[in-house]
Amino acid sequence: MTLNRSFLFVPAIREKMLEKAPESEADVVVLDLEDSVPPAEKARARELAARHAPLIAAAGRQVHVRVNAISTGLARDDVAGILGPGVSGISLPKVEGPQEVREFDVIMREYELERGMRPGSIGAVIWIESAPGLLAVYESLTASSRVTGAALGHEDWTAHMGIERSGAGEELDYARNVISVAARAAGVLALDGPYSDFRDDEGLERECARLKQMAIKGKFCIHPRQLPIANKAFAPGPEEVAYARRVVEAWEQGAREGKGAVQLDGKMIDIPVANRARGVLETAAAIEQRASPPGHAR
Ligand code: COA
Ligand code: MG
Repeated sequence: MTLNRSFLFVPAIREKMLEKAPESEADVVVLDLEDSVPPAEKARARELAARHAPLIAAAGRQVHVRVNAISTGLARDDVAGILGPGVSGISLPKVEGPQEVREFDVIMREYELERGMRPGSIGAVIWIESAPGLLAVYESLTASSRVTGAALGHEDWTAHMGIERSGAGEELDYARNVISVAARAAGVLALDGPYSDFRDDEGLERECARLKQMAIKGKFCIHPRQLPIANKAFAPGPEEVAYARRVVEAWEQGAREGKGAVQLDGKMIDIPVANRARGVLETAAAIEQRASPPGHAR
């Protein structure tokens, strides 16, 4: 089971940050080749990303790489430069529609095959950062089975729409909700771009609480101090875990007695409710395993 609560962006040209990434609390480390890397540095960024990916993966973190958008013409060289040991996912920015996702899929398949990987095995999170992108989000999410989620890029979205940013970020909520519903329909994760005021812990906490109510499942971060906040916000709380345990117990007791549906505290427990509770327990177990000190079985 993979955790997807927190994604830490690391500019792939910042060697000190790359060295710190393995010890971060991120569920996923995202090595950035896009907007935190100037054009003249793209080649060096690819080399550094390829070198650090296996080291970060060896520390138990998932490693994704954010490539440049298909429209830049750089994505193929990005994939060629970084696809290899350690990398388990790609962030594809500025997706405007399904055609781009299909083009990306063709590139990925070519290099997966060349490098002895199963075609389609590397996942992709697509970024929605424009009005055409938002209108086509469901089609983009379902254009390739490798797509695992979608995230809203706050700065590009508001720049494109000509919206001024507020601290609380309500101006992003319409797009977030559209992405969330599309992701639910496509059976993938709804994610959210970084909270840029990275020293405002309370602001981030408030934002994460609102995101949870929009069925958003994880948050991209730009600074290590944001990670524990996202990890806590997107983990099931103690009451949720305790209740899930009772649901599963009630369900299993019912199954032993040959019942298809049971009741708990006056509420009906049937298969979807029991499955959801099992999912909560699996997530909680994966989080506990992550928290166990080195040397313990992972
Ligand atoms: N990944 C790994 N380590 C990071 C980090 C990151 N994203 N951001 C900061 N750190 C490290 C710093 O290297 C520093 O390490 P040190 O204590 O050993 O010196 C420590 O965390 C504290 O950093 P701090 O001084 O508070 O921040 P900063 O001023 O150096 O950097 C940013 C602030 C925003 C420039 C930096 O966090 C950053 O570049 N974030 C990622 C930006 C990005 O990827 N943008 C593209 C996607 S939107
Ligand atoms: Mg962007």
